Amino acid sequence: MDIVSEIRRLKAERGAVILAHNYVAGSLQDIADFVGDSLELSIKAAQANAKVIVCCGVKFMAETAKLLSPGSTVLLPDPDAGCPMADMADAAQVREYKRLHPDTVLIAYVNSSAEVKAEVDICCTSGNAEKVAAAYKGRPVMFLPDRNLGGNINKKLGLDFELWPGCCPVHDKVTVSMIEAARKLHPGAPVLVHPECRRDVVEAADFALSTAGILRGIRESDQKEFIIGTESGILHRLQKENPGKKFYPLEPCMVCSDMKKITLEQVYTVLRDLSNQIELPPEVMTAAAKPIRAMLEIK
Ligand code: 13P
Ligand code: SF4
Repeated sequence: MDIVSEIRRLKAERGAVILAHNYVAGSLQDIADFVGDSLELSIKAAQANAKVIVCCGVKFMAETAKLLSPGSTVLLPDPDAGCPMADMADAAQVREYKRLHPDTVLIAYVNSSAEVKAEVDICCTSGNAEKVAAAYKGRPVMFLPDRNLGGNINKKLGLDFELWPGCCPVHDKVTVSMIEAARKLHPGAPVLVHPECRRDVVEAADFALSTAGILRGIRESDQKEFIIGTESGILHRLQKENPGKKFYPLEPCMVCSDMKKITLEQVYTVLRDLSNQIELPPEVMTAAAKPIRAMLEIK
């Protein structure tokens, strides 16, 4: 069986749209209708108007698609593809925080569960975090769950948001010495990292951008060589879109094992069986959609 043709056939039969995050395997990016960062995937999900959305990414992305397209059947090819950072904040902890700090605004990075989103005022992604944060300047804010993204925004915008003690294991392990070593190996090549990296790493890099920001920056750059400090899946798209440019991973171990759980076989199976549907309790659907919609209204 030619799995790619079978996926295309089932996709047409089901009226399905396939969304893929920039970190999933290249074979999945190549069959997707749209590949993007978390913000772009949210916008696409809201506009998709499809009977079925297959989300090649991790659970919070599929949940976000369901919250924004409640009438669509949203399928997550591997139900065990989660995000360890999202798991670092649970709804009971957030409710307890709110009880103790009733006047504090809660901003949740989109890398959080739907139950956590149901408790917060607004969401953000790495692509719009600065704009969202700027709208709350001067107010007491708890930023969760990524202490690194929150800390980087605090530094850049001169804010003092309180930070939840969570982080992305893939980005948190990047160190300044890795950047120094890569610069020695590839002199002159700019270093691009993700803002989920620690503050000293972001300061030592040339740019800290969301995955869509990294892709855009490189597309528009005249330089020929780049050091990439984010999850390895992005290299597929970088190479495909920029055949004349060279990319060096900052560290070969920047691999998100959850993003890499998704396979073509699973996409085929969920399309065939309509299995692994995202289902959320109605009260969570209503409450969690609000902070995501509030985020999409911030221009
Ligand atoms: P972005 O693609 O929004 O930059 O997100 C990075 C990420 O870690 C998603 O899990
Ligand atoms: Fe979560 Fe990090 Fe994997 Fe993104 S790369 S899904 S933030 S663990």
